[in-house]
Order: sequence, then C-alpha cells, then structure tokens
Amino acid sequence: MLAGKRIVLGVTGGIAAYKSVELCRRLIDAGAHVVPVMTAGAERFLGTTTLSALASEPVRTRLWDDPETPIPHTKLGQNADLVLVAPATARIIGAYAAGLSTDLLTNVLLATRAPVVVCPAMHTEMWEHPAVVDNVATLRARGVHVVDPESGRLAGGDVGAGRLASPESIVAAVEAVLAPGDLTGQRVVVSAGGTREPIDAVRVLANRSSGKQGYALAAEAAARGAAVTLVSTVDLPTPGGVELVPVETADEMKSAMDRLAPTADVVVMAAAVADFRPADPSDGKLKKRDGVPVISLEPTPDILAGLGAAKPDGQVLVGFAAETDDLAANAAEKLDAKRLDLIVANDVSAPETGFAHDTNAVTILAPDSPACTVPLADKRTIAAAVFDRVVQIRSGG
Ligand code: CTP
Repeated sequence: MLAGKRIVLGVTGGIAAYKSVELCRRLIDAGAHVVPVMTAGAERFLGTTTLSALASEPVRTRLWDDPETPIPHTKLGQNADLVLVAPATARIIGAYAAGLSTDLLTNVLLATRAPVVVCPAMHTEMWEHPAVVDNVATLRARGVHVVDPESGRLAGGDVGAGRLASPESIVAAVEAVLAPGDLTGQRVVVSAGGTREPIDAVRVLANRSSGKQGYALAAEAAARGAAVTLVSTVDLPTPGGVELVPVETADEMKSAMDRLAPTADVVVMAAAVADFRPADPSDGKLKKRDGVPVISLEPTPDILAGLGAAKPDGQVLVGFAAETDDLAANAAEKLDAKRLDLIVANDVSAPETGFAHDTNAVTILAPDSPACTVPLADKRTIAAAVFDRVVQIRSGG
C-alpha cells in the first residue's frame, strides 16, 4: 500500500528516537521512499549513520548545509506524500501548533500540503500538561493525524501514558491516511455555528451553538478525501484542506448555501440558524436614554427546507435537529418536512451533549430505515458516524 510513497520521517529529541530506526525499516519494507530528517535534539539520542543506512536517502539535519538544495524545506515539503513525526516531543508539537519555523523539520511541516502524522512520546506529566493538551487539540482541529501514545514503562523507570505508539500502529496509521478515502472526488458543503441577527449597530440576536460539530464534520469529510467548503459563523481554526466561507446572518448563510449546494454531492446543515430576527434593525446604537426598546421579530428563511425543495438528483442532504423534548418524533417530522436523506438529532438539554461541548450523543434517522444511536463520544467520532451513513446512502444502501 505504501509502494512509491514519499514519506518524510521527522525524528525529534526523545529517548524514543531509537524506535524510529525500526519504524524506518518497516516503512521501507512496505515499499515507501523514506527521507529522514533529524532535529538537533534527535542527534543527541541517535547517530545519523544508522538512519542514513536504512532510509532511502541520507539523513538531513540542517536548513543551511546542503549546497545542492539551498532551500531544502520547500523541496522536502512539496515533494512529500506524507510527513511523519515519530517520536514527536512537546517542543515540536508546540512549535508546529504555533507555526514557528526554527529548524529544518519545523520548516518542512509548514511548507507541506501533504497529510501529517504526529506520534507524541514524552513523560506522562508533559503529555497531560494543559499546554500540550491544547497544542495537540489545535493540531487535530487542523486535520493533523495524531497517533496517541500508549501507556507503559517510560524512560527512568516511570510508568504511565506517553510511550511512543508501536511501529505497527504507526505504520497502520500511515497506511490509513494514504488509503484513498471513501469521499474522494466528492464535493461536500457543511454549515456550522449559530447565526447572528443584528438588533442595532452593536447588538445581535444569537444562540449557543459553538460550531464545533460542524468543524468536526468538515475535518472528517476532508480526511476522507472530499473537497470541502465550510460555511461558518464562528472563528475556530479551519481544518486542513477545507475552504472557508465566513457568514454571519441567516440571509448570508442562505446565499452561500444556495450558491454552493447545486454542485455538491453532500450537503450538511449543522448550523443553528435563527428562526426569527429583528424585523427592523437600527443602523445606529439604540440608546438607553430612549427607554427599553420593543423589538419585533420576523421569521428567517428556512435554508434547509429550500435546499430540500431544490435538491439535485443523487445529492445526499443532511439536516440536524436540536431538540429538548420528543427527540425522535420531532426529528422524524423535520426529516420528512424538509425532504432530507438523513437527520442527526441531538438532545441539547442533556449533560455533555450539544452546544459548546466537545462531546455529543445523537440519533441518526433516514427515511424507511431504523434509527441508529451513537452514544456519547467526541464530535469527530459523531462526524465519522454521520459520514459512514452518508457513504452508505451514496452507494445505494
Ligand atoms: N434550519 C435552516 N434554516 C432555518 C432553521 C433551521 O436551515 N431557518 C436547519 C438547521 O440547520 C437544521 C434543521 O434546519 O439542520 C433543523 O433545525 P432546528 O433548529 O432543529 O429546527 P427548526 O426547523 O428550526 O424547528 P424548531 O426550531 O421549531 O425545532
């Protein structure tokens, strides 16, 4: 599966650097062309000779010392099919999350559009430090594949989470990333976040949607090979390879969705669209001295119902249903009324699910099919369950 694939293997300065030798061998055995890059820290744990002897090319260590390639990072980054960092220290994870280019490997990471697989290895205290946790979450949100470390014996005799994943797991992760995705060649449009409807020049009528589920859906679709456009009201890191269309109001979201949906294979309306908006927003700021304003509301357009009515043949149209009561019955009604192929219902009043949480629990309904329940899981797992069902429908299931 890896035959002919050009993999930049980044090795950073941790005890687990010695395991990169075995990893390199396995990648070569699987047919990959491995280009090793070692950081200065890695050189304290591993000589360059070993990796140079095993890999397809000699180890590179510096930005500046190659007379034939004055800018090696762009060449390495552009030509790679995949960049793998194993082991990845807290330093490289932090530098990559912050966009810092301080050495050859960090430059390669910023100069590549290829998928990146990062395999952290460090002591448990470091792995669980809030800064590292945040940096890893940032990388994941950008579409970087993180192979979690295992629990076990660490350097110095300590035991805990932080041991580099096994070479088999890392090679399997690389193979999974390079395997053609089940949405390859398909155009997917996802909406995310809550709309904001102006009351006056400074105030808006908003809702509690964080947009996290929509971003997880966009990242998942991109990881499966789709060309993804994300129509969003929120300011979260855009997942790698996803095109962002920023909007604010229901009207702006409707224009974007109406423009993008006709050529899409899959449309997912994960956004929480305001059902009502101020009928007569003030251009200036409403002043306190003028007394408590009476704000009359008017309905917004139902974007999803419009997309359902104009749905091209073969397109899979997915809606969300945010419910507090009678989840399945209300969702089934929306599925039918808006002419959807799938509806993802969540109870926004339950603990740990729905708005602003990192986790969700949903019931997925399709016409004439039994409901499928996905128990509490992170939003990316929920996204994967939604696209599993989408792929099934597109292949006639
Ligand atoms: N939706 C939409 N346009 C609206 C309102 C909702 O496109 N003006 C979409 C949402 O993005 C979601 C689905 O319709 O995919 C259901 O939204 P939800 O708020 O659960 O239901 P509503 O149709 O608004 O009905 P209600 O608020 O009465 O539950």
